[in-house]
Amino acid sequence: MLREEIARLKQEISAIKLETSVAAEQFRQQYLSKKGIIPSLFDAFREVAAEQRKEIGKSLNELKQDAEALFKEAGNLVSGKKEDQKETDYSAPGWTFQQGSRHPLSLVSNQIHEIFSRVGFSVAEGPEIEDDWHNFSALNFPEEHPARDMQDTFFIEKSPDITLRTHTSSVQVRMMENNKPPLRMIMPGRVYRNEAISARAHCFFHQVEGLYVDENVSFADLKQTLLYFSREMFGADTRIRLRPSYFPFTEPSAEMDISCTVCKGDGCNICKYTGWVEILGCGMVHPNVLKNCGIDSEKYTGFAFGMGIERIAILKYQVKDLRLFSQNDMRFLSQFKAWY
Ligand code: PHE
Repeated sequence: MLREEIARLKQEISAIKLETSVAAEQFRQQYLSKKGIIPSLFDAFREVAAEQRKEIGKSLNELKQDAEALFKEAGNLVSGKKEDQKETDYSAPGWTFQQGSRHPLSLVSNQIHEIFSRVGFSVAEGPEIEDDWHNFSALNFPEEHPARDMQDTFFIEKSPDITLRTHTSSVQVRMMENNKPPLRMIMPGRVYRNEAISARAHCFFHQVEGLYVDENVSFADLKQTLLYFSREMFGADTRIRLRPSYFPFTEPSAEMDISCTVCKGDGCNICKYTGWVEILGCGMVHPNVLKNCGIDSEKYTGFAFGMGIERIAILKYQVKDLRLFSQNDMRFLSQFKAWY
């Protein structure tokens, strides 16, 4: 009789102890698998008369539950885990999240933006692929100027010349062509020069250039703006020094040094024992450039300056090799914590 058989099996199962995974598997096959004892009882159950179905069905279900519980528990014992621990193991090590940080060049670039935005400069950008006019001609480069040479410039097409821009001064031209003075903006971006890659040179780098065009803009304004920038960037005790220089697009032109950020002017190997390090080129916008861009050079004057972001970052963080900025080495990058 089915009823007696179920009762007997209940007893039998309650006496079983499963202590190894082999025993547990044997138990499963014997009692619970498709061809096992319990499923066969469900087959037999189909024949049970209607008035007995309720009672027998109930005890058959109980038997099945007992068998399943026993097997499940054995499984936990064998794998050495308690069921709840699978859900929440408070002793398990947590997930570690790598916190991102900004690239050092972005940090420096953002800081430069911030410093100039405080004195009214906005940000302008332009294309990295330029024509000869914006990169050279409008900027008063003589036809035979060496910077136009194949050795410095990456040409994409020849005659008409299309190049990768060699400086962001090309954006100055675009801004002057399309806007009326007063103009006060900085122009950040990537630039390209055909140089062998080494610790001190790369075929691309980043610049920020600045431009201020208005009535009565003087060299004194330039000097004061650059002094302000240098002190904000490198500290209040920073001194600056301007040396006469030459750029086709500025007249007069100068290069600017700051007192060495490492030795404060006493002399060290960063400043090659001079106490000064060069950080940018600058000057008064050449009247020819203003004219080329449709600005009345009798009425307006302007100053411009340009610096390499890598150079500033190298000084700020004392990075020894320029290539580190473009190698995406996490050991290098993760040292920079984002504050901008
Ligand atoms: N364009 C110059 C360079 O790439 C930098 C510069 C900008 C100099 C503006 C003077 C004025 O070297």
